[in-house]
Amino acid sequence: MEKLVSLCKRRGYIFQSSEIYGGLNSCYDYGPLGTELKQNIKSAWWRAMTYHHDNIEGVDASILMHPRVWEASGHVAGFTDPLVDCRRCKQRFRADQVTGSTCTNCGGQLTEPRQFNLMFKTFMGPVEEQASVVYLRPETAQGIFVNFQNVVTVSRQKVPFGIAQIGKAFRNEITPGNFIFRMREFEQMEMQFFVHPSTDSDWFEKWREERLQWHLSLGIQPDKLRWHEHGPGELAHYAKAAFDIQYEFPFGWQEIEGIHNRTDFDLKRHAEYSNKRLEYFDEARKEKYVPYVIETSVGCDRTLLTVLVDAYREEAVEGETRVVLRLSPRIAPIKAAILPLVRKDGMPEMSRRITDDLMRAHRVFHDETASVGKRYRRQDEIGTPFCVTIDSQSLQDQTVTVRERDSMQQERIAAAQLRAWLDERVMG
Ligand code: GAP
Repeated sequence: MEKLVSLCKRRGYIFQSSEIYGGLNSCYDYGPLGTELKQNIKSAWWRAMTYHHDNIEGVDASILMHPRVWEASGHVAGFTDPLVDCRRCKQRFRADQVTGSTCTNCGGQLTEPRQFNLMFKTFMGPVEEQASVVYLRPETAQGIFVNFQNVVTVSRQKVPFGIAQIGKAFRNEITPGNFIFRMREFEQMEMQFFVHPSTDSDWFEKWREERLQWHLSLGIQPDKLRWHEHGPGELAHYAKAAFDIQYEFPFGWQEIEGIHNRTDFDLKRHAEYSNKRLEYFDEARKEKYVPYVIETSVGCDRTLLTVLVDAYREEAVEGETRVVLRLSPRIAPIKAAILPLVRKDGMPEMSRRITDDLMRAHRVFHDETASVGKRYRRQDEIGTPFCVTIDSQSLQDQTVTVRERDSMQQERIAAAQLRAWLDERVMG
């Protein structure tokens, strides 16, 4: 992890938030490469959900919602962690993460556990009083539930159908950490799939399988992924059944995505608290009911950490160590580096022309500094899957050499074919 964290900072993947002020605990900023990688992950998810299923629609709800939403959802009463304080050094711990009654930091006495709500509060309008309290959403899902009727009306979708959303969520985690694994501000990619109550188990299985395949499609090693089923003590207040997809991080097996059967809990509670009907009339079945919801919920930042951890390698090459990020071409921030072998004889100009053509479809990078070997290593370290080299032969026969990052194999192809060649590898 230490090596990866240092690479992320050095090469512009991830910085600490407000670093010049000493940082803000468990908040991070994405640098140029991290921003690109994150966009690619979001785009892969969005395509997998909305482009590849004509029965899934998208929404983009606001982060601030009516405070009653969080009463209805159960978050005001139940989105809590039990917390203990050290009476001496004042450090706080999650009660389920300490053994005994003494502080692991200083040996002081711990208080009795008390419930700590993880939602961030703020105030809407100029008056800071209880009536103006609003919360920063701790999950994006509620923005979908409150828009259920709107989407049914405007989209003419029929159950079974889904609503997808990508957006920020906030949790005042007691024990954040492990870099971007557990943050206080993070992004979720959630999809609520509305089904007839009698079909919930079948849809639950279908979505479990599909979500696992999505992680594999990002190139994650299959033996690093496994299922974890929630036991009765672990289930969230809204869930009838839940499975996590876990990844084996350097700090152990941890959840990256949750698939939950949320039943009709949320829609029923919102109907009760808002006094609005949130039923669905199923024309095919001639039946009115509140749909059950199968939810898939994955952290965007956590997926990004997963792909970086999974891709990081140190390899011995010709007596030297090369650091390489084996990112899938689908999500790699830069798809190809275009490198003139030397800075003369028209090679930089040809390289520039190729770059200008490719950049209309892909993020590519033109680099004419340093030796070609050094330029390869730089690209390996940031995960660029292909390096295109322009040499003296290129000027004569309009061909270029393409080097593949993982195998380091090179092949010669016509410059005119390059765009189609790259399209195929990036978009598959
Ligand atoms: N709507 C259901 C829900 O929010 P969750 O299991 O609490 O379920 C879903 O969160 C996903 O969101 C997790 O699998 C994880 O990827 C991500 N996530 C949750 N808390 C996070 C945090 N503090 N930092 C980063 N990602 C987080």
